[in-house]
Amino acid sequence: PALFGPDRRNSRGWDLAHAPDLAEIEAARAPHRQARWAAGPLIAGTPAPGPACDVINPADPADIVGTLRPASAADVDTALAAAAAWDAPAKERAAVLRRAADLYEENFGEIFALLAREAGKGLPDAVGELREAVDFLRFYANEGEGAEAPPRGLFTCISPWNFPLAIFTGQIAAALAAGNGVLAKPAEQTPLIAHLAVSLLHRAGVPRDCLQLLPGDGATVGAQLTSDARVGGVAFTGSTETARLIRAAMAEHMAPGTPLIAETGGLNAMIVDSTALPEQAVADILTSSFQSAGQRCSALRCLYVQEDIAGPFLTMLQGAMAELRMGDPWELSTDVGPLIEAAAQKDFTAYIARARAEGRVLWQADAPAPGHFLSPTLIRVDSIADLEREIFGPVLHVATFRAEEIDAVTDAINASGYGLTFGLHSRIDDRVQHLAERLQVGNLYVNRNQIGAIVGSQPFGGEGLSGTGPKAGGPHYLARFTARPAAPVNE
Ligand code: SER
Repeated sequence: PALFGPDRRNSRGWDLAHAPDLAEIEAARAPHRQARWAAGPLIAGTPAPGPACDVINPADPADIVGTLRPASAADVDTALAAAAAWDAPAKERAAVLRRAADLYEENFGEIFALLAREAGKGLPDAVGELREAVDFLRFYANEGEGAEAPPRGLFTCISPWNFPLAIFTGQIAAALAAGNGVLAKPAEQTPLIAHLAVSLLHRAGVPRDCLQLLPGDGATVGAQLTSDARVGGVAFTGSTETARLIRAAMAEHMAPGTPLIAETGGLNAMIVDSTALPEQAVADILTSSFQSAGQRCSALRCLYVQEDIAGPFLTMLQGAMAELRMGDPWELSTDVGPLIEAAAQKDFTAYIARARAEGRVLWQADAPAPGHFLSPTLIRVDSIADLEREIFGPVLHVATFRAEEIDAVTDAINASGYGLTFGLHSRIDDRVQHLAERLQVGNLYVNRNQIGAIVGSQPFGGEGLSGTGPKAGGPHYLARFTARPAAPVNE
């Protein structure tokens, strides 16, 4: 079935409001409630022995989810020497990727358990994430089947912990569908899910020398994989700062013209004007800012509310925030799970303490212990210019504006230099049109939330400091993994 255009069919998923679906999930994930996994290098060769460390549950540091044996420099060398492009016919590669998509869906119980215990993701997020991973596999399989361009050779794929399955899989699926070999480095925080994913891809039929897993630190494994002349391209999702380091390393060590496909941060805004439906806008703000504990690059960070409605609107928003439940993401009643690690919690606590000292904290509840929780927090600012960097957690900043200031607000949003997502709540058609033309962002959402782009329907990616393009899950992405002349970016 088509995954792009009006006839597209995305993965079916599970309806959490439907009791039989929920019962099916509970039965399938229950055996993994206390399980322990082990991750390590999966290479076409024998990994050198080395020490392992524990991987812990961010919602409960006493829960040891498994162990990680990171790849050593020698393992990376072995993998690079053994790595090969995937020279099977495009149809065969596509069939293998589709088989992998089916295996992902069959193993949903283990995947949901790992997403909760290793990455702190609740069921609504986990269902969305598995669907996105499966969609990526099928979408790029379809796209690759029709492509005739030769591959680049070897691709390094470096992915983030906030979508440890979907983004990890999307990069790999695109590189493989185009016929490349892949060296995959998952985020330090989420190697267990990556290990399971690569095991399923191997089981589906991806040859072991065409897909190798090298878990470990960015500073060691990542640096080695982005500074080797045998690598023909790099796909990276993570911080803007790391993308800069990767580009510098590639410029020094790789052939000019080696592509870097980077999806980086965002400093995303939403404008709510006086014609917005307040109940709808509040619900969409909660989703945009606090789902996944705000740990999405697409998440809303700075809300602009028109002054005329700001008083009652912010009262309503704070009331809704007070109803959010924090806790173990395994529980269905949880709305907001933990931050990924203690270091993030510490940074945020200091950040919020500074805002509190300046009298700018409008709302914050107590967070539960002992996990790495941070309560959804509302902080008043004058402008998005007051935010110095991407804030990766459940912290929303709010500013007000007068109707005549709307162009100045748009300019300030553009001036941040980021350009990922933007949300607008307005019932004035001309204003929607006007702002859509002015804002320099990759994904713009009107009268809805601004997270959760759907593969094939909403290609996802930004511009400026937010990434290089082309957009993931869109019609130009795969071409960038081939030796075909460069496709238009940001489409
Ligand atoms: N693709 C995700 C989203 O749209 C963000 O990383 O929310």
